[in-house]
Amino acid sequence: MSRVRFEPSGITVESNSDGEHLSDILERAGISLEKVCGGRGKCGRCRIVVRDGSVPVTDKDKELIPQEDLAQGMRLACVIRVHSDMVLEIPKESERNEQVILEDAYVQTKLSPVVSNFILKVPAPSLHYQVGDLERLRTVSSQRLRVEIRMPLGTLRKLPNLLSASEQIRLVSRGGEILDVTSANGNEMFGVAVDIGTTTVVVYLMDLVGGECVAVESKMNPQITHGDDVISRITFAMRNPDGTTILQTQISQCIDELIGECCASAGVDKEKVYEIVAVGNTAMHHLFFGLDTSHLGRSPFVPVVADAVEVKSHELGINIGEEAYVYTLPNVAGFVGADHIGVLLACRLWESDETRMAIDIGTNGEISVGNTSGVASTSCAAGPALEGANIRFGMRAATGAIDHLSIADDFEVSYTTISKGKPRGLCGSAVVDAISELFRVGVIDPNGRIRKGLVSPRIRIANGESQFVIAIEQETATGEAVTITQKDVSEVQCAKAAMYAGATILMEDRGVTQDDLDLILLAGAFGNYISPKSAIGLGIFPEVPLSKVKQIGNAAGSGAKIALLNQKARDEATKLAREIRFVELAARPEFQERFFQALYIPHQNQSLFPEVMSKVVESNKVDRPA
Ligand code: FES
Repeated sequence: MSRVRFEPSGITVESNSDGEHLSDILERAGISLEKVCGGRGKCGRCRIVVRDGSVPVTDKDKELIPQEDLAQGMRLACVIRVHSDMVLEIPKESERNEQVILEDAYVQTKLSPVVSNFILKVPAPSLHYQVGDLERLRTVSSQRLRVEIRMPLGTLRKLPNLLSASEQIRLVSRGGEILDVTSANGNEMFGVAVDIGTTTVVVYLMDLVGGECVAVESKMNPQITHGDDVISRITFAMRNPDGTTILQTQISQCIDELIGECCASAGVDKEKVYEIVAVGNTAMHHLFFGLDTSHLGRSPFVPVVADAVEVKSHELGINIGEEAYVYTLPNVAGFVGADHIGVLLACRLWESDETRMAIDIGTNGEISVGNTSGVASTSCAAGPALEGANIRFGMRAATGAIDHLSIADDFEVSYTTISKGKPRGLCGSAVVDAISELFRVGVIDPNGRIRKGLVSPRIRIANGESQFVIAIEQETATGEAVTITQKDVSEVQCAKAAMYAGATILMEDRGVTQDDLDLILLAGAFGNYISPKSAIGLGIFPEVPLSKVKQIGNAAGSGAKIALLNQKARDEATKLAREIRFVELAARPEFQERFFQALYIPHQNQSLFPEVMSKVVESNKVDRPA
């Protein structure tokens, strides 16, 4: 067996077999690397440096690592198989960082949860009234409830002790199913709203009696070790016989732990949590239930199930109230999932006289336009660039990420970083700021090209590519300048063009013009951290006055809370999901032309400039056709 020592931690781990994947050894060592592509050798983020030992250069290394770094021993960790002892250094920038997670999810809804509780007086048995506990209870409950009660075995087992202690007991009911029986004194009843994001998971513990949120906990989605985006997860699930089970177990454990943390911080007994409402994109939804995701990754992108699903929580390995349920909002299509229905539930597009657009920008951006005459939705395969991936110095919204910046006319840069850390890279909002600002000050032209002939120490050429320096070497945590490269600009152009083209096609479908838009609602983490001014400047969405743009927090989480607190909202969501007009951009012939037009910065309708962009489009293609 071979020994692998990792520096600077000094952790040493033995391989289990000759040729074992380094990724598995890293996992045993407890070292998490950035793996944007899920270990498929595509993103170049999992770089390590071979300090001792022999690790040959592969074709993927040559493709993704500059020649001079290869000469220094830099390699991609995900392609290495271990055949002999080695010492590997983990560069700081390759380490996975905890992301700042958006937890704000505001709700205003009537409190009328699907779970309710009430006290019943059950007459005691006697020699003259030899009727079973359940049957006596049924007799009195039928006068109170309109439906015949059903009592699962777990609840039935608790009944005799309670009834022998008191004639008065409290029943926790869900549509006639008695989830729990307790003494009449306690009135505790809790539920959990869960937003299963591809990157982060947020859990809200809600008091179903008072309607308040009593605790919030969040963490990174543990599935991220198998790739940052949904396509990577789907690929992992398809390629590994146990892939779906592994991903299902990871997300269930994560939710179970987060609920445990919420209960501990709020002093709530986990057994008193009777309902979970979860939202997520269609892939996250399917993986939560352990459903096959392979069809989501190929045309015609059909989900296994679009309707709302409800199962007992213990079927998913979540240990709350013994008979508790997990309920998920419906999906609309393969790439418009329950999370977007959650967003729509929170902003109620369908009952507004105003014409509103709700946007959740991400690797797959979901957009809806609607008013009282109907709602149309689409999904844009924007790729991960707007979230900082596929960007030379892109990173998550973690400590040291530049999150906002501005560029003066003399090209001096002012920026802020998350947690005031020394700059390590740029998160998505800063990437958008940077390109919008570079265009505004004239460093890049409307085609996205960094102009030639500009003289400034901030404009450099490295590896034959023009770059603009955002943070110089002396300012950064790594000693390496943080830059925006020509390729980065092109990546962002493709992403924003996909979003913009999708938005305009959707608007046309509804017969809506830019001037008709009364409000643009930005949901989700990116939508909340992004500068609306920069987003409009770059042309990510239609140009409206800034006063018409509103950032609405974690609206998917709000939707989950609403469906938890108000059962009528579930019917509304089901009706909405069935009535939404879904516009599949892959089936719209005009998309390609719109996309090319929208590549311009800003997005005026100019003549096409295919020579640069056709290359970029090719290299930027996501697995799902746009
Ligand atoms: S290249 Fe190794 S994880 Fe992406």
